[in-house]
Amino acid sequence: MYKFYLTVIAFYCVVSTSCNNTSDQATANKDSVDHTTTTISNAVPDKKGFQTTIDGKKTDLFILKNANGITAAITNYGGRLVSLLVPDKDGKFTDVAVGFKNVDDYVGPNDAYFGATIGRVGNRIAKGMFTLDGKKYSLFKNNGPNSLHGGKKGFQAVVWDAMQPNDSSLELSYLSKDGEEGYPGNLNVKVVYTVTADNGFKCYYEATTDKKTIVNLTNHAYFNLNGDGSGTINNHILQINADRYTPVDSTLIPTGKIEPVANTPFDFTKATAIGARIEDNNQQLKYGKGYDHNFVLNGTGLRHAATVTGDQSGIQMDVYTEEPGLQFYGGNFMQGKSSFKSGKKDDHRTAFCLETQHYPDAPNHPSFPSIVLSPGKTYRTSSVYKFSVNKSAP
Ligand code: GAL
Repeated sequence: MYKFYLTVIAFYCVVSTSCNNTSDQATANKDSVDHTTTTISNAVPDKKGFQTTIDGKKTDLFILKNANGITAAITNYGGRLVSLLVPDKDGKFTDVAVGFKNVDDYVGPNDAYFGATIGRVGNRIAKGMFTLDGKKYSLFKNNGPNSLHGGKKGFQAVVWDAMQPNDSSLELSYLSKDGEEGYPGNLNVKVVYTVTADNGFKCYYEATTDKKTIVNLTNHAYFNLNGDGSGTINNHILQINADRYTPVDSTLIPTGKIEPVANTPFDFTKATAIGARIEDNNQQLKYGKGYDHNFVLNGTGLRHAATVTGDQSGIQMDVYTEEPGLQFYGGNFMQGKSSFKSGKKDDHRTAFCLETQHYPDAPNHPSFPSIVLSPGKTYRTSSVYKFSVNKSAP
C-alpha cells in the first residue's frame, strides 16, 4: 500500500509539471504523433470513424477526460473503450487501451470483444445450459460446446443509448428484451464509465429485471501498458491478490474445484513477469493456451485486486473491484489478423485483459457466488482501473 501511495505521488509530480492542461496534452500528443521512430498510438482517435448507423441507431465516439489530461474514448457500439491516454514515466501520453480506429473494424469477423461491455453473462456457461427455478434455459453455443460472453450477439455488438452528463462520464443504457439470446426477463442495463479525478477509469454497472434471470457484467478492455502497438505483454509485471483460482477443463469450464495458486504458475501473489512461467509444463496453461483463468480474489467489497506495470513505460495500473473474481486473459487467441489504430497487428499476446466478474459457469456451480437477479432487486457493481507511474519499474 505504501508503495502504491509513493507511485501515486510520483505520478502527480509528473502530471503537474508536464501535462496539467489540455494544450500541453495536445502538444504532447502532436509531438508523439510526429515522431516517426515509433508506431505506438498516442492520439485521441478521430470521431468520424465511429459516426455511422448500425441496427437503425446512431453510433459515435465519446471523449472523457479529467483535469490531469487522462482521456478515454468510448463508442456506444458495444460500449467499447477504444483508447485510454495516460502519462508514462516521462510524462508522455500513451494509449494503453488496444483498439481499432473505426467502428467497421469492431463489427468485422476478427473482433474478439476488444474493449467491449460484456453481457448478459460474461465468461462461459457450460453447454449453453442453465436452470432457474426448475426451468431449463438454452443459450447459443458460440465457443465450442459452450456459450461465451452473452452468446451470438452479446452486449458487445449492440448499440447502446449514450448520454454524456459531463466531461468525465458517459452513461450507456440498453434494454435487453425478454428472451434475447435465450435469457429470461426484460433486463434494463445502465453502465457508467468515468475518468475519475484520481486517474481511474471507473466502470459502474446497474441492472434490473422483470423476471428472475442471470447477469454477470464486465468490461473486456485489452491493455498494453507500454502502449497500443508496442509488442509483447509478457514482460509486464503482474501481481494479483488471489490465493486461489478456479481450474478448468479442456473447454475452459471450471471443474468446480477452488485450488490454491501456491507452487503453480498461477501464483501472482508476488509481482512476477507475465511470461516468466508461461511455457511451464502445466496442464492448466495447456488448456488455456496460456493464462485464461479466473482468480478467486481475496477479501470482499471494493478492494485492491491486481497491479500491472508496463516494463518499458513504467505505467502502473491498479485494479479495484467489488467482484469476487478476476479473469486474467493473456491474449492467447490474438491472431495477427486485424490492424489496430496503432497500425500494428493484433499479434499473439500483445495485450491482456483483467475482467472483473463472478466466476465462469456460476449458474452450474451452486458453490460459486450466485449471479441470479430477481425482480425488485438491483444489480450494482463497480470496478476501477487506476493509473500511476512506477518510478522503480525496470
Ligand atoms: C476472454 C476469454 C478467452 C477468449 C477471449 C476473446 O474473455 O476468456 O477465452 O475467448 O475472451 O478472444
